[in-house]
Amino acid sequence: MRKKIVAGNWKMNKTITEGLSLIEAIKTGAPKVQKAGVDIIVAPTYVMLSDAAKAVNGSSIKLAAQNCHQEESGAYTGEISATMIQAIGAEYIIIGHSERRQYFNETSASIAKKINVVLSKGLTPIYCNGEVKEERESGRHFEVVKRQMNDELFHLSAEEVLKVVVAYEPVWAIGTGLTASPDQAQEIHAFIRQLLTDKYGAAVAEEISILYGGSCKPDNAKEIFSKKDVDGGLIGGAALKAEDFLGIVAAF
Ligand code: PGA
Repeated sequence: MRKKIVAGNWKMNKTITEGLSLIEAIKTGAPKVQKAGVDIIVAPTYVMLSDAAKAVNGSSIKLAAQNCHQEESGAYTGEISATMIQAIGAEYIIIGHSERRQYFNETSASIAKKINVVLSKGLTPIYCNGEVKEERESGRHFEVVKRQMNDELFHLSAEEVLKVVVAYEPVWAIGTGLTASPDQAQEIHAFIRQLLTDKYGAAVAEEISILYGGSCKPDNAKEIFSKKDVDGGLIGGAALKAEDFLGIVAAF
């Protein structure tokens, strides 16, 4: 059965001290709200991954990085490789987040390569896709997501794609307070699962977790997560406060 996941993407927030106290608060609160079969993931910045790995050790919290470079090593000043992240003990790497696409010019080609390098290290990519506002307003969101999946994910074998977590994140809903309605989320999650079915067959598609991201909060998570093809959330702003994040975990 596919996993239910609540993942917190901290983006460029929290010093090491602040991040460690957030992890402590999540660790303390999680046993009261985390149901069996629900995974909690936190994705702090690179600089605190090592401390975070020690802090989550022995708890139910799993660790993700927010990005990695597409090459394994080499002369790429300022970059971090999947090998380094694996060595720290993180299990997941977020790939293709819309902020990476928008502000750091990530292309479908680099995203496809990053997914490969993450998988080659035995880690799980949390692969993000989703349309911008104008694409939604002109009814092109299905087409956009289909193209992204074709160009960035569908070079994988069935065996490989089973190790991927997909996160649908409509760009117009990220950090804006606008959320896809539960029906809008279900509609496009079902579409994504159908694309996976067409490419890999229903047995594979049914095993892949598809998360929703975009202004997910404690007060809207329950309804969104109740939808058949929504397997959890990738949470930005609301992941920065233990109370809010745990409120979302409790929504399952
Ligand atoms: P948000 O961000 O929850 O702040 O909208 C979600 C994300 O970017 O993953």
